[in-house]
Amino acid sequence: MLDAPMIDPHELRNAFGCLPTGVTVVSMLDEAGKPTGVTVGSFTSLSMSPALCLFSLGKQQASARLFKEGTPFVVNVLSTDLEGLAWQFAKPLEDKCAGAELTESLVQAPRLKDAIAHFACHAYTIHDGGDHIIVVGEILDFDHKEGDALIFYRGQMQTSAPL
Ligand SMILES: Cc1cc2nc3c(=O)[nH]c(=O)nc-3n(C[C@H](O)[C@H](O)[C@H](O)COP(=O)(O)O)c2cc1C
Repeated sequence: MLDAPMIDPHELRNAFGCLPTGVTVVSMLDEAGKPTGVTVGSFTSLSMSPALCLFSLGKQQASARLFKEGTPFVVNVLSTDLEGLAWQFAKPLEDKCAGAELTESLVQAPRLKDAIAHFACHAYTIHDGGDHIIVVGEILDFDHKEGDALIFYRGQMQTSAPL
């Protein structure tokens, strides 16, 4: 068996950052029933039937402890004009949602009013992913509208506006 290779986590992060990702906020309720959320770039589509999506969360993130099978949440796809929310939900703030316009969703989780797409889900399965958990969500409701998606690339925010 080969020895485990020496991997520099900082360089690995930089290499992962060469692939642009969309920027989402996953919103849910905390243990006290208060709206909260976390900025997530690992969101991806998974299955059409059943309708499934997935994202990963670092096990050390405070929000990771909120997810177990059945947990309701909404994935909010951010547009370029919502960059401020992307940075806000990426900070360990006491009130993550301060100033954010929230509306109700089909599930017991808030949604960000101005996102260009919403996927209202409950956690279908949770998987181990090393130092992350992988949350597979079953999509119960969704919507989308026009707008240029916010993109995260090499550590910076970009726009997906057509050339
Ligand atoms: C563009 C962007 C994408 C991110 N994507 C993820 C992700 O997919 N998974 C993750 O665990 N953290 C991700 N983060 C970091 C979290 O948003 C950040 O650590 C946040 O403070 C965690 O919130 P919490 O402590 O309330 O859980 C991302 C941050 C940014 C700026």
